[in-house]
Amino acid sequence: MNEVADGTELQQIPFNQAAIEGRELEYVRSSIESGRTSSGGPFSARAGGVLAEHTGAKEVLLTTSCTSALELSAMLLDLKPSDTVIVPSFTFTTTALAFARQGARLIFCDIEPRTLGLDPQHLAGLLDETVRAVVLVHYAGVACDVEGVRKALMDWPDVAVIEDNAHGLFGSWRGEPLGSLGRFATQSFHETKNFVCGEGGALLLNESRDVDRARVLYDKGTNRRAFMLGQVDKYSWKDTGSSFGLSDTLAAYLFAQLEQRDVIQGKRRALYERYERSLAPLAGELGFEVADLPSDRGSAYHMFYLLLSDHRSRNAVLDHMGAHGIQPTFHYVPLHSSDAGRSFAARSTDCPVSEDISGRLLRLPFYNNLSPTDADRVVASFLDAVSVGARP
Ligand SMILES: Cc1ncc(COP(=O)(O)O)c(C=O)c1O
Repeated sequence: MNEVADGTELQQIPFNQAAIEGRELEYVRSSIESGRTSSGGPFSARAGGVLAEHTGAKEVLLTTSCTSALELSAMLLDLKPSDTVIVPSFTFTTTALAFARQGARLIFCDIEPRTLGLDPQHLAGLLDETVRAVVLVHYAGVACDVEGVRKALMDWPDVAVIEDNAHGLFGSWRGEPLGSLGRFATQSFHETKNFVCGEGGALLLNESRDVDRARVLYDKGTNRRAFMLGQVDKYSWKDTGSSFGLSDTLAAYLFAQLEQRDVIQGKRRALYERYERSLAPLAGELGFEVADLPSDRGSAYHMFYLLLSDHRSRNAVLDHMGAHGIQPTFHYVPLHSSDAGRSFAARSTDCPVSEDISGRLLRLPFYNNLSPTDADRVVASFLDAVSVGARP
């Protein structure tokens, strides 16, 4: 509860709140009772099956996080110290760290203001013989300029495209599912995402050539999977790797969530549209911007963000709403100018759009069961904050 100036008690509205949507408790219980709780069990097969069916991936490996899926993708590239990987500056640290950790140098690319995804023009100027991969992020669940990226890469056919699809599951670009557009895609099932299991992720392999080796790296460098499939009569150490597998008990939690995908996405879409309907008509007058969904994209409805006119107004709105028991939040701090980003970079690059957006962006509370009444309270508080800020 939050006490406001007139003494009334108001329920807090958090930024995020994960929810039980279906048979999570039943499946988790059944997983534990079965005694089959390590990775690669029956719930992993069912959860992975949903992802494979939706995206058409050749193989889905459930991992302990999106970060570990990115690390596995980096291992599969066999990066050398002379190699570079292009990543957006405006993203989560591990979109970049996963590749630096495997020994590559990073090149930070700016974003374009329409989708906050990689800027193809900047990308085109960064490509050279050292580049082994480009990582795309579909910010907020809206596809980046995939066509622009593909054009920029036309003369660089050996550069791998990796989708960090942490926000984008069930979003689409020109009818194609996000997660199916590159050689690898990674998913997150962290408690802040649309589909959750506490901590979890997945690596989607979209090319058959990667499947056998990925299974080995995924399973502690062994060919245990081939053994389980009856392809070899014993298993042994074959390659590099690590222990990437998600426990089947967490896969049980995840599968219950994925079973409810239409319900979950429907709730998030309704909330998104409610915010948009209430705020978009006032944006010009009050000096803020609402993202505009390009007509050839289907949103995954991961978040709802607004851009304020400048850093000071954004922070004033955060403070004002916070004082009224509502928890909006900012997002990524650009990586190209961070301490680690600078030390892992092959060379320094300018990313002015990332800097500008990072200072002005504000995310409203956004979760499956945020009620219409609470959403209206969020809107009213935001409008109140912006109007206060607009007063001379
Ligand atoms: C774009 C992006 N990639 C990767 C991650 C990391 O996900 P995880 O916590 O599952 O490792 C996040 C986390 O929020 C993210 O926003």
